[in-house]
Parts: sequence; C-alpha cells; structure tokens
Amino acid sequence: MRLLVSGGAGFIGSNFIRHLFQAGDEVQVLNLDKLTYAGNLENLSSVAASPNYRFYRGDVAEPGEVGAALAECEETFGGPIDAVVHFAAESHVDRSIENPSSFLRTNIVGTQVMLDGARRHRVKRFIHVSTDEVYGSLGAKGAFTEETPLAPSSPYAASKASADLIAMAYCRTYEFPVIITRCSNNYGPYQFPEKLIPLMIANALLDRPLPVYGDGLNVRDWIYVEDHCQAIESVIKYGRPGEVYNIGGHAERTNLEVVRTILRTLGKPESLIQFVPDRPGHDRRYAMGTSKIQRELGWKPRWSFEKGIEATVEWYLANREWIEWMRSGAYREYYRRIYEEREIWVERVRAESLTRGEQA
Ligand code: NAD
Ligand code: DAU
Repeated sequence: MRLLVSGGAGFIGSNFIRHLFQAGDEVQVLNLDKLTYAGNLENLSSVAASPNYRFYRGDVAEPGEVGAALAECEETFGGPIDAVVHFAAESHVDRSIENPSSFLRTNIVGTQVMLDGARRHRVKRFIHVSTDEVYGSLGAKGAFTEETPLAPSSPYAASKASADLIAMAYCRTYEFPVIITRCSNNYGPYQFPEKLIPLMIANALLDRPLPVYGDGLNVRDWIYVEDHCQAIESVIKYGRPGEVYNIGGHAERTNLEVVRTILRTLGKPESLIQFVPDRPGHDRRYAMGTSKIQRELGWKPRWSFEKGIEATVEWYLANREWIEWMRSGAYREYYRRIYEEREIWVERVRAESLTRGEQA
C-alpha cells in the first residue's frame, strides 16, 4: 500500500503511521504535515529512518504545497498513490470557540484542496477522517447512526460537517472515491495535553487542579486510539466508496467518571477536582452506533475503557518530558487564558455573542 497521510505528526495520525509499520504489511507512507502546535515529529522517531517513510512539511490549504507533496510521494516510492488518509485538522473545540478562522481555513478549505490534488493525481481512494461531533448532541437515550442528520454545535464541529459535505459532493459530482469515517472521542499515547484525558493526567501528576466543565455529567463515547487506527485500516482495504462509517468505543462515561478513574489509577485524591464554568454550546452526550462497520467490515473495538486508561496512564508516566515539551511556549499562554481566567473568558465569549446579536 502506498499512502499519503495528512496530519501524520498529530495524535491519531502518528498512532496510525506507527500502527501501519508495526502491522508488518508492505507499506509506503508520505506524511504531509504543517507542524502546528499539535504536530510533533518526535512522535514518529521509531519510523523516521525507514526508506518506506517520508516527511513533507506543508499546509493542506495551499494547493501548491499539496500538489508538490503528492508528486513527491509518487516519485519517492515509484508509483501511483493507493489512498490519501486525511487527518490534518484543527481539532480542539475550545480553541475553535476562541478563534474559529483557522478551523474554517484548515478544515474546510484544506479538505477541498486535498480533494482537488488527490483527484488530479488519480488517487484510488480518499479517506476523510471526520468526527461524531458533526451529529450534534444526543438526549439520554439512543445512538448516532450514519443517517443521523448533521447538527454541529461548535465552530470546530461545523467546520468538520462542512468538510464532510464537500467530500461527498466530490464523490457524487466527480465520481471521486471518497469514504468518510466518523469516530468518537479518542484517547491514548501522544495526545496533546489540552484534551480531557491527557490534561487530567498531566495536572494530577503535578497535583494541580483538574478543571471539570459545568456539572461534569456530559457523556462521551471513549475509544482507545489503536482501535480507531485498526478501523481506518479496514476502511482503506474494504470500505465502499461513497459511504460513511461510524466508529466508536462502546464506552460511554460521564466526564466525572473519567476523571475519577484517572485519579484512582494514579492514587491521587478527588479533592483535586475543581468545577469551572461550562464550555459555551457544550454538547451533552455522544454515543456511536457501529453496526454498519461491524456488519460490512467485521470491525469492532477490542480495548475496554479500563484497559485503555491503564495503558494510557502508564504511557504518560513513562513520558513526562514529552508532556513538558508539548506544553512549553505558546501553550502556557493559552492555558492561562482558558483556565486561570476562565470566568473572564466565558463572559467575554457570551458578551461578544450578545453584542453581535444587538448589532444584527
Ligand atoms: P491533532 O490536533 O492531534 O493533530 C492534527 C495534526 O494536523 C497536527 O499534526 C497538525 O500539525 C496538523 N495540521 C493542522 N493544520 C494543518 C494544516 N493546515 N496543514 C497540514 N497539517 C496541519 O488532531 P487529532 O486528535 O489527531 O485528530 C486527527 C483527525 O481526527 C482530525 O481530523 C479530527 O477532526 C479527527 N478526529 C479526532 C478525534 C479525537 O478524539 N481526537 C475523534 C474523531 C475524529
Ligand atoms: O467526539 C470526537 C471529538 O472529541 C473530536 O472530534 C475532537 O477533535 C476532540 O477534541 C474531542 O472533542 P471533545 O470536545 O469531546 O473533547 P475534549 O477532550 O475537549 O473534552 C471532552 C469532554 O470533557 C467534554 O465534555 C468537555 C470536557 N472537558 C474538557 C476539558 C479540556 C472538561 O470538563 N474539562 C477540560 O479541561
């Protein structure tokens, strides 16, 4: 398999590339990544020296850079590209609330530019990696299916839903073989410590407060990243073009349950939990129905939440310098704004919405 992977230096992309090389199949990968704050080439040090791996620094929203990366992939590995796996995105909901513009540029324009480039290079299939957040929020019962209407809440989710629609339009209009995957909340090694699980582990290790939004009863459907990687591999090999596949971990937990599990695993006290003002527009519950991918591709999650959390905590304990390195520099300023001055931040977001409402 000859692949171009975008966003391969991030959390899921780097786990996916390592997964492919560990699986032992004949695989050639060019990783196209801009190396934003979320991308780190250290995540790929185990494969960097392989003649079957190549890194190309570039922006998915720049047609010239995408075209050059596709050409380099073909030249380096001597043939046409079997699949593009498009992970590159701005991925953090809170950052999208602060400043949506980079989300629209990377996630929407970037996807269209990647589709155009891949089409021009006659790539055999295009896997667009999307999210359950495009479906919006669920009530207490039921689960998302692939037919659930799109109803995104945050600027991040709306940008991913827009990209999904554009990807499907390329499939229908140009008969370009696009497949969309929509996955629930991932966790595991190499996740940037701004997302719930690594943030809580990193803070607990330093005996710092664990900021839980609102009442802590929002529910997410957690999947260990290795299961997501396995699902994407199955979709590349056996998925049907023009289809959407939901992927989930079958592990619904409230945020409070997740945080308590982490504290227990680390032997830290619950007094570290600190309730803070809620995320504006916070979705209450996600849960994925995965019968389609199970029926058609024979995929199902293998990791239980308990086993996955144990492995994740172990990884962060063994890689404390990685956490420090990822959190240095600009992240400190972001953390101060979003947590240490959180009342001011939430008020500012609300005041700005009101002002905009009045002006309209
Ligand atoms: P991440 O933020 O850890 O990594 C994103 C990667 O994309 C980084 O390496 C970054 O440098 C790169 N990137 C950002 N902008 C770019 C640009 N303009 N050009 C090229 N590269 C750019 O994200 P993640 O959590 O690994 O998520 C990967 C994908 O999976 C995203 O598309 C996300 O929407 C989707 N997803 C994530 C989750 C989750 O729980 N993390 C769940 C479902 C779907
Ligand atoms: O569902 C898939 C999505 O999961 C992906 O598409 C996104 O890229 C990924 O960031 C993630 O989005 P969430 O908003 O669900 O993840 P996050 O880790 O930011 O938050 C998980 C839950 O924890 C959510 O209900 C908000 C809450 N939370 C989060 C943080 C960072 C807290 O209570 N405190 C926090 O400090």
